Amino acid sequence: MDPKEVPGVCEKIGLPSVIKAQVLAGGRGKGVFDTGLKGGVQIVESLDEASAISTQMLGHYLRTKQTKDSGLPVHKLYVTEKIPYNKEFYLSICVDRDRRCPAIVASRSGGMDIETAVKTDPTSVVRVPLNYTEGINEAASSEVARLFGLASGVQKDKIHELLTTLYELFKSHDATLLEINPLVATASGDLICLDAKFNFDNAARFRQPELFALEEQADRDAREIEAARLGFSYVRLDGNIGNIVNGAGLAMATMDAIDYHGGKCSNFLDAGGKATKETMTDAFRIVLEDERVKVVFINIYGGIIHGDMVATSIISAARELGPLRVPLVVRLQGTSADKGQAMLAQCGLDIHSVADFTEAVQLAIRLASQ
Ligand SMILES: *[C@@H]1O[C@H](CO)[C@@H](O)[C@H](O)[C@H]1NC(C)=O
Repeated sequence: MDPKEVPGVCEKIGLPSVIKAQVLAGGRGKGVFDTGLKGGVQIVESLDEASAISTQMLGHYLRTKQTKDSGLPVHKLYVTEKIPYNKEFYLSICVDRDRRCPAIVASRSGGMDIETAVKTDPTSVVRVPLNYTEGINEAASSEVARLFGLASGVQKDKIHELLTTLYELFKSHDATLLEINPLVATASGDLICLDAKFNFDNAARFRQPELFALEEQADRDAREIEAARLGFSYVRLDGNIGNIVNGAGLAMATMDAIDYHGGKCSNFLDAGGKATKETMTDAFRIVLEDERVKVVFINIYGGIIHGDMVATSIISAARELGPLRVPLVVRLQGTSADKGQAMLAQCGLDIHSVADFTEAVQLAIRLASQ
């Protein structure tokens, strides 16, 4: 997006306009840009101002209390008309974990974050648990209308309609949070949703292909995106020992053991249940593309897959990509582990097969520090 496009948009929707930095973090209003500009949400009164402000936003980093210190790069702006209103509210549908049901959380103090509102005035916030099957009923919408001080029949109906629509969206899209902030009431009594943040259940990715196709990848590590595509759980870390492990529990235990013995992992990688040659080749590629990696530590527990099959997969993958630029330490246990260990020991590649967990970890750390 080019800042030069912004005045044209403002002209079309009318001045004054509101320009918002589109980053995937909250607290934008109180955020600060690396240009020194204060506020990720700006109101502009003229086309010149629109141009000047958007130049200071686009391509720069916005730091909010929800981002890391360096902030997030702003690649997109959201330009909207400035709507005059009398009152602003907070309205959300979320998951109440304690009660294990959806719930409405609403506050009279819109605009600011809900955590602050709860602290400064607990009576300004209500939480209404919902029955998942039944959704919004009259009692629930009346409670919200009462909190908002929207007492007329027409306004109550509007709240009920809005909540019903939101709840349908929540249910049909496997959402975990639909947050409207602010929801505003205009002088003529209209209710308008001015901004929103929606979260969706990652586990429902396969049920919501259209929705997840919209996911923005720009701020993610390229390897994390590639790993997700291949079906791995991958998280980039700060160290130099690349891990390939089957099972999330074993992956955690591996990281703990490496950390305990004084090493640092470059990644968490759960390769899942399959240890085929393709899986191993993909996992090696992902881990080795990271130039910080000094050694690859493979920790596989073979249950259904036998140790000799795992060893065959590791050896073929290492041959296919080889010669590998770093040594491999393999700790193989489980069904037919002895057969697999013997194959690894005899394959003639730079593979150290160590059956004992602690010894394997210590060797990986030693090799990484060389
Ligand atoms: C929710 O509503 C359904 C349908 O009326 C009912 O069968 C169910 O018991 C309710 N669940 C709870 C937790 O109240």
